[in-house]
Amino acid sequence: MATLLVHTPNTLSSKMNTFRAMRPIASRFSKQTLPAYRSYSAPASYEFIETSEPRPGVGQITLNRPKALNALSTPLITELNTALLSFDRSPTIRTILLTGSQKAFAAGADIKEMAPLTFSEAYTTSFIESWSSLTTAIKKPIIAAVSGHALGGGCELALMCDILYCTETANFGQPEIKLGTIPGAGGSQRLSRAVGKSRAMELVLTGKGFSGREAYEWGVAARCFGSWEELMEGSLKTAETIAGYSKVAVMAGKEVVNKSQDLGIRDGVEFERRVFHSLFGSEDQKIGMKAFAEKKKAEWTDK
Ligand code: CAA
Repeated sequence: MATLLVHTPNTLSSKMNTFRAMRPIASRFSKQTLPAYRSYSAPASYEFIETSEPRPGVGQITLNRPKALNALSTPLITELNTALLSFDRSPTIRTILLTGSQKAFAAGADIKEMAPLTFSEAYTTSFIESWSSLTTAIKKPIIAAVSGHALGGGCELALMCDILYCTETANFGQPEIKLGTIPGAGGSQRLSRAVGKSRAMELVLTGKGFSGREAYEWGVAARCFGSWEELMEGSLKTAETIAGYSKVAVMAGKEVVNKSQDLGIRDGVEFERRVFHSLFGSEDQKIGMKAFAEKKKAEWTDK
Protein backbone atom coordinates (compact mmCIF):
# COMPACT_ATOMS: atom_id res chain seq x y z
CA MET A 1 0.00 0.00 0.00
CA ALA A 2 1.32 3.45 -0.83
CA THR A 3 1.97 5.83 2.02
CA LEU A 4 0.34 9.24 2.14
CA LEU A 5 2.96 11.90 1.55
CA VAL A 6 3.42 14.13 4.58
CA HIS A 7 5.13 17.44 4.00
CA THR A 8 7.25 18.79 6.78
CA PRO A 9 7.85 22.54 6.84
CA ASN A 10 11.54 22.25 5.93
CA THR A 11 10.99 20.01 2.94
CA LEU A 12 7.91 21.78 1.66
CA SER A 13 9.43 24.77 -0.09
CA SER A 14 12.13 22.74 -1.82
CA LYS A 15 9.48 20.42 -3.22
CA MET A 16 6.95 23.05 -4.22
CA ASN A 17 8.19 23.47 -7.80
CA THR A 18 8.14 19.77 -8.44
CA PHE A 19 4.67 19.55 -6.98
CA ARG A 20 3.44 22.49 -9.04
CA ALA A 21 4.40 20.62 -12.16
CA MET A 22 2.74 17.45 -10.84
CA ARG A 23 -0.40 19.16 -9.56
CA PRO A 24 -3.48 17.87 -11.31
CA ILE A 25 -5.66 20.59 -12.74
CA ALA A 26 -9.20 20.59 -11.44
CA SER A 27 -10.56 19.62 -14.84
CA ARG A 28 -9.07 16.21 -14.26
CA PHE A 29 -11.60 15.76 -11.49
CA SER A 30 -14.43 15.53 -14.01
CA LYS A 31 -16.57 12.39 -13.67
CA GLN A 32 -15.26 10.82 -16.88
CA THR A 33 -11.61 10.95 -15.89
CA LEU A 34 -11.74 10.31 -12.13
CA PRO A 35 -9.02 7.90 -11.12
CA ALA A 36 -10.19 4.78 -9.33
CA TYR A 37 -10.74 4.96 -5.56
CA ARG A 38 -7.41 5.10 -3.77
CA SER A 39 -6.70 4.60 -0.12
CA TYR A 40 -3.40 5.12 1.62
CA SER A 41 -2.15 3.79 4.91
CA ALA A 42 -1.64 6.29 7.69
CA PRO A 43 1.87 7.45 8.42
CA ALA A 44 3.33 5.13 11.03
CA SER A 45 3.67 7.97 13.49
CA TYR A 46 -0.08 8.34 14.05
CA GLU A 47 -1.49 6.35 16.94
CA PHE A 48 -4.91 7.94 17.48
CA ILE A 49 -5.96 8.98 13.98
CA GLU A 50 -5.85 7.60 10.46
CA THR A 51 -5.35 9.58 7.28
CA SER A 52 -6.29 8.66 3.73
CA GLU A 53 -7.08 10.16 0.35
CA PRO A 54 -10.39 8.48 -0.52
CA ARG A 55 -11.21 10.71 -3.52
CA PRO A 56 -9.09 12.97 -5.73
CA GLY A 57 -8.19 16.10 -3.82
CA VAL A 58 -9.90 14.91 -0.62
CA GLY A 59 -7.89 14.26 2.53
CA GLN A 60 -9.70 12.25 5.20
CA ILE A 61 -8.81 12.22 8.88
CA THR A 62 -10.50 9.52 10.95
CA LEU A 63 -10.34 9.78 14.72
CA ASN A 64 -9.29 6.34 15.88
CA ARG A 65 -9.29 5.77 19.60
CA PRO A 66 -12.15 3.27 19.73
CA LYS A 67 -11.68 2.03 23.30
CA ALA A 68 -12.30 5.55 24.64
CA LEU A 69 -14.98 6.45 22.06
CA ASN A 70 -12.47 8.83 20.46
CA ALA A 71 -12.09 10.91 23.64
CA LEU A 72 -9.96 13.88 22.67
CA SER A 73 -6.75 13.49 24.64
CA THR A 74 -3.88 15.93 24.17
CA PRO A 75 -1.83 13.40 22.13
CA LEU A 76 -4.85 12.85 19.84
CA ILE A 77 -5.31 16.60 19.33
CA THR A 78 -1.58 16.99 18.62
CA GLU A 79 -1.82 14.32 15.91
CA LEU A 80 -5.01 15.87 14.54
CA ASN A 81 -3.34 19.28 14.25
CA THR A 82 -0.30 17.76 12.55
CA ALA A 83 -2.47 15.93 10.02
CA LEU A 84 -4.64 18.99 9.38
CA LEU A 85 -1.58 21.16 8.77
CA SER A 86 -0.09 18.52 6.52
CA PHE A 87 -3.26 18.39 4.38
CA ASP A 88 -3.51 22.18 4.41
CA ARG A 89 0.03 22.43 3.01
CA SER A 90 -0.37 19.59 0.55
CA PRO A 91 -0.48 20.75 -3.07
CA THR A 92 -2.82 17.90 -4.01
CA ILE A 93 -5.35 17.99 -1.15
CA ARG A 94 -8.09 20.57 -1.67
CA THR A 95 -10.78 19.61 0.88
CA ILE A 96 -10.53 17.87 4.24
CA LEU A 97 -13.02 15.39 5.69
CA LEU A 98 -12.95 14.84 9.46
CA THR A 99 -14.80 11.86 10.85
CA GLY A 100 -14.83 9.28 13.64
CA SER A 101 -16.40 5.85 13.80
CA GLN A 102 -20.03 4.87 13.30
CA LYS A 103 -20.35 4.68 17.11
CA ALA A 104 -18.57 7.90 18.07
CA PHE A 105 -17.32 11.01 16.36
CA ALA A 106 -15.82 11.90 19.75
CA ALA A 107 -17.17 11.54 23.31
CA GLY A 108 -15.52 14.76 24.45
CA ALA A 109 -12.28 15.88 25.99
CA ASP A 110 -10.50 13.07 27.82
CA ILE A 111 -12.11 13.24 31.27
CA LYS A 112 -9.46 11.01 32.84
CA GLU A 113 -6.68 13.28 31.58
CA MET A 114 -8.50 16.42 32.75
CA ALA A 115 -9.64 15.21 36.15
CA PRO A 116 -6.43 16.00 38.12
CA LEU A 117 -5.64 19.32 36.36
CA THR A 118 -5.26 22.33 38.64
CA PHE A 119 -6.26 25.86 37.70
CA SER A 120 -2.64 26.99 37.43
CA GLU A 121 -1.73 24.04 35.18
CA ALA A 122 -4.73 24.64 32.92
CA TYR A 123 -4.11 28.38 32.81
CA THR A 124 -0.35 28.43 32.34
CA THR A 125 -0.36 25.70 29.68
CA SER A 126 -3.38 27.26 27.93
CA PHE A 127 -5.08 23.89 28.12
CA ILE A 128 -7.36 23.28 25.11
CA GLU A 129 -6.22 26.40 23.25
CA SER A 130 -4.45 24.27 20.63
CA TRP A 131 -7.83 22.77 19.63
CA SER A 132 -8.74 26.10 18.08
CA SER A 133 -5.86 26.07 15.60
CA LEU A 134 -8.31 24.14 13.40
CA THR A 135 -10.27 27.37 13.05
CA THR A 136 -7.33 29.72 12.55
CA ALA A 137 -4.50 27.84 10.82
CA ILE A 138 -6.41 25.72 8.32
CA LYS A 139 -7.42 27.54 5.15
CA LYS A 140 -8.91 24.66 3.21
CA PRO A 141 -12.53 23.65 3.88
CA ILE A 142 -13.13 21.01 6.54
CA ILE A 143 -16.27 18.87 6.47
CA ALA A 144 -17.24 17.06 9.68
CA ALA A 145 -19.05 13.75 9.16
CA VAL A 146 -20.62 12.93 12.52
CA SER A 147 -22.11 9.61 13.57
CA GLY A 148 -22.80 8.38 17.10
CA HIS A 149 -21.62 10.44 20.08
CA ALA A 150 -20.44 14.02 19.56
CA LEU A 151 -20.40 15.17 23.16
CA GLY A 152 -18.64 18.02 24.93
CA GLY A 153 -15.39 18.63 23.08
CA GLY A 154 -16.61 16.27 20.35
CA CYS A 155 -19.61 18.51 19.70
CA GLU A 156 -17.32 21.54 19.83
CA LEU A 157 -14.87 20.00 17.37
CA ALA A 158 -17.70 19.32 14.93
CA LEU A 159 -18.96 22.89 15.36
CA MET A 160 -15.49 24.23 14.50
CA CYS A 161 -15.61 22.58 11.07
CA ASP A 162 -16.82 24.49 8.02
CA ILE A 163 -19.64 22.14 7.04
CA LEU A 164 -21.28 19.69 9.42
CA TYR A 165 -23.03 16.55 8.16
CA CYS A 166 -24.41 13.88 10.50
CA THR A 167 -26.61 10.84 10.76
CA GLU A 168 -30.17 11.38 12.00
CA THR A 169 -29.34 9.40 15.13
CA ALA A 170 -26.07 11.17 15.99
CA ASN A 171 -25.94 12.13 19.67
CA PHE A 172 -24.82 15.73 20.15
CA GLY A 173 -24.60 17.55 23.46
CA GLN A 174 -22.65 19.66 25.92
CA PRO A 175 -22.85 17.49 29.07
CA GLU A 176 -20.01 19.25 30.92
CA ILE A 177 -22.43 20.56 33.56
CA LYS A 178 -22.84 16.96 34.74
CA LEU A 179 -19.08 16.91 35.43
CA GLY A 180 -19.15 20.13 37.41
CA THR A 181 -17.75 22.24 34.61
CA ILE A 182 -18.72 24.05 31.39
CA PRO A 183 -17.81 23.79 27.68
CA GLY A 184 -14.23 24.94 27.12
CA ALA A 185 -13.63 24.68 23.39
CA GLY A 186 -16.13 27.19 22.09
CA GLY A 187 -19.39 25.26 22.57
CA SER A 188 -21.27 28.00 24.40
CA GLN A 189 -20.33 30.57 21.75
CA ARG A 190 -20.77 28.54 18.56
CA LEU A 191 -23.93 26.80 19.76
CA SER A 192 -25.50 30.16 20.69
CA ARG A 193 -24.82 31.47 17.19
CA ALA A 194 -26.13 28.27 15.60
CA VAL A 195 -29.28 27.64 17.66
CA GLY A 196 -29.96 30.93 19.47
CA LYS A 197 -29.24 31.95 23.05
CA SER A 198 -32.21 30.36 24.79
CA ARG A 199 -31.77 26.91 23.29
CA ALA A 200 -27.98 27.03 23.82
CA MET A 201 -28.54 28.03 27.43
CA GLU A 202 -30.90 25.11 27.92
CA LEU A 203 -28.39 22.68 26.40
CA VAL A 204 -25.42 23.97 28.39
CA LEU A 205 -27.26 24.23 31.72
CA THR A 206 -29.14 20.91 31.54
CA GLY A 207 -26.52 18.86 29.68
CA LYS A 208 -29.39 17.42 27.62
CA GLY A 209 -28.37 15.93 24.28
CA PHE A 210 -29.87 16.56 20.87
CA SER A 211 -30.15 14.24 17.91
CA GLY A 212 -28.67 14.55 14.46
CA ARG A 213 -32.18 15.15 13.14
CA GLU A 214 -32.56 18.07 15.59
CA ALA A 215 -29.08 19.34 14.65
CA TYR A 216 -30.28 19.47 11.06
CA GLU A 217 -33.63 21.08 11.90
CA TRP A 218 -31.93 23.72 14.08
CA GLY A 219 -29.33 24.61 11.45
CA VAL A 220 -26.33 23.12 13.30
CA ALA A 221 -25.91 20.54 10.54
CA ALA A 222 -26.18 21.29 6.85
CA ARG A 223 -27.57 17.83 6.13
CA CYS A 224 -28.48 14.66 7.99
CA PHE A 225 -28.51 11.14 6.58
CA GLY A 226 -30.41 7.94 7.34
CA SER A 227 -27.36 5.73 7.72
CA TRP A 228 -23.59 5.79 8.29
CA GLU A 229 -22.97 4.65 4.72
CA GLU A 230 -25.12 7.46 3.32
CA LEU A 231 -23.36 9.95 5.59
CA MET A 232 -19.92 8.94 4.36
CA GLU A 233 -20.97 8.84 0.70
CA GLY A 234 -22.74 12.21 0.97
CA SER A 235 -19.77 13.79 2.76
CA LEU A 236 -17.27 12.46 0.23
CA LYS A 237 -19.42 13.65 -2.66
CA THR A 238 -19.55 17.18 -1.27
CA ALA A 239 -15.82 17.12 -0.52
CA GLU A 240 -15.12 15.99 -4.07
CA THR A 241 -17.39 18.66 -5.53
CA ILE A 242 -15.58 21.40 -3.61
CA ALA A 243 -12.20 19.87 -4.55
CA GLY A 244 -13.16 20.32 -8.21
CA TYR A 245 -13.42 24.12 -8.00
CA SER A 246 -10.72 26.79 -8.08
CA LYS A 247 -8.65 26.58 -4.92
CA VAL A 248 -8.41 30.37 -4.81
CA ALA A 249 -12.19 30.86 -4.96
CA VAL A 250 -12.86 28.06 -2.46
CA MET A 251 -10.44 29.48 0.10
CA ALA A 252 -11.92 32.95 -0.39
CA GLY A 253 -15.44 31.54 0.05
CA LYS A 254 -14.43 29.87 3.30
CA GLU A 255 -12.79 33.05 4.54
CA VAL A 256 -15.77 35.32 3.90
CA VAL A 257 -18.38 32.96 5.35
CA ASN A 258 -16.29 32.46 8.48
CA LYS A 259 -15.85 36.22 8.85
CA SER A 260 -19.63 36.48 9.19
CA GLN A 261 -19.26 34.80 12.58
CA ASP A 262 -16.96 37.56 13.86
CA LEU A 263 -18.16 40.75 12.16
CA GLY A 264 -21.38 42.76 12.20
CA ILE A 265 -23.37 42.80 8.94
CA ARG A 266 -22.01 46.13 7.67
CA ASP A 267 -18.34 45.27 8.22
CA GLY A 268 -18.97 41.74 6.99
CA VAL A 269 -20.50 42.86 3.70
CA GLU A 270 -17.65 45.34 3.24
CA PHE A 271 -15.11 42.57 3.87
CA GLU A 272 -16.87 40.27 1.42
CA ARG A 273 -16.88 42.98 -1.26
CA ARG A 274 -13.13 43.57 -0.85
CA VAL A 275 -12.36 39.87 -1.20
CA PHE A 276 -14.76 39.69 -4.17
CA HIS A 277 -12.88 42.61 -5.79
CA SER A 278 -9.57 40.87 -5.18
CA LEU A 279 -10.72 37.79 -7.08
CA PHE A 280 -10.81 39.88 -10.29
CA GLY A 281 -7.03 39.63 -9.97
CA SER A 282 -7.13 35.82 -10.18
CA GLU A 283 -6.68 33.83 -13.39
CA ASP A 284 -9.49 31.51 -12.35
CA GLN A 285 -12.10 34.29 -12.36
CA LYS A 286 -11.21 34.99 -16.00
CA ILE A 287 -11.15 31.28 -16.81
CA GLY A 288 -14.48 30.59 -15.08
CA MET A 289 -16.39 33.44 -16.72
CA LYS A 290 -14.86 32.86 -20.17
CA ALA A 291 -15.73 29.15 -19.96
CA PHE A 292 -19.32 30.05 -19.07
CA ALA A 293 -19.63 32.37 -22.08
CA GLU A 294 -18.08 29.75 -24.38
CA LYS A 295 -20.22 26.96 -22.87
CA LYS A 296 -17.05 25.04 -21.99
CA LYS A 297 -15.82 23.38 -18.83
CA ALA A 298 -13.52 25.61 -16.80
CA GLU A 299 -9.99 24.32 -16.42
CA TRP A 300 -8.81 25.90 -13.19
CA THR A 301 -5.20 26.92 -12.69
CA ASP A 302 -5.54 27.79 -8.99
CA LYS A 303 -3.95 31.13 -9.78
N1 CAA B 1 -13.06 10.77 28.36
C1 CAA B 1 -12.39 9.66 28.71
N2 CAA B 1 -12.88 8.43 28.52
C2 CAA B 1 -14.10 8.31 27.97
C3 CAA B 1 -14.85 9.44 27.59
C4 CAA B 1 -14.26 10.71 27.79
N3 CAA B 1 -14.89 11.85 27.42
N4 CAA B 1 -16.03 9.02 27.08
C5 CAA B 1 -16.01 7.67 27.14
N5 CAA B 1 -14.84 7.24 27.67
C6 CAA B 1 -14.41 5.86 27.91
C7 CAA B 1 -15.12 5.27 29.10
O1 CAA B 1 -14.49 5.62 30.30
C8 CAA B 1 -15.01 3.79 28.79
O2 CAA B 1 -13.70 3.38 29.13
P1 CAA B 1 -13.47 2.01 29.98
O3 CAA B 1 -13.96 0.93 29.05
O4 CAA B 1 -11.99 1.97 30.16
O5 CAA B 1 -14.28 2.13 31.20
C9 CAA B 1 -15.12 3.73 27.27
O6 CAA B 1 -14.83 5.05 26.81
C10 CAA B 1 -16.52 3.37 26.80
O7 CAA B 1 -17.43 4.27 27.43
P2 CAA B 1 -18.77 3.80 28.19
O8 CAA B 1 -18.56 2.45 28.80
O9 CAA B 1 -19.19 4.90 29.09
O10 CAA B 1 -19.74 3.65 26.93
P3 CAA B 1 -21.33 3.80 26.91
O11 CAA B 1 -21.73 3.35 25.56
O12 CAA B 1 -21.95 3.16 28.09
O13 CAA B 1 -21.61 5.38 27.07
C11 CAA B 1 -21.22 7.73 26.58
C12 CAA B 1 -21.20 6.27 26.04
C13 CAA B 1 -22.65 8.14 26.85
C14 CAA B 1 -20.63 8.59 25.48
C15 CAA B 1 -20.40 7.81 27.88
O14 CAA B 1 -19.13 7.22 27.66
C16 CAA B 1 -20.16 9.23 28.35
O15 CAA B 1 -21.05 9.81 28.94
N6 CAA B 1 -18.95 9.79 28.10
C17 CAA B 1 -18.59 11.11 28.57
C18 CAA B 1 -19.24 12.19 27.75
C19 CAA B 1 -18.87 13.56 28.30
O16 CAA B 1 -19.19 13.91 29.41
N7 CAA B 1 -18.17 14.38 27.47
C20 CAA B 1 -17.75 15.69 27.86
C21 CAA B 1 -16.34 15.67 28.36
S1 CAA B 1 -15.81 17.21 29.04
C22 CAA B 1 -15.39 18.19 27.73
O17 CAA B 1 -15.44 17.78 26.60
C23 CAA B 1 -14.91 19.55 28.06
C24 CAA B 1 -14.76 20.45 26.90
O18 CAA B 1 -15.59 21.28 26.64
C25 CAA B 1 -13.60 20.43 26.07
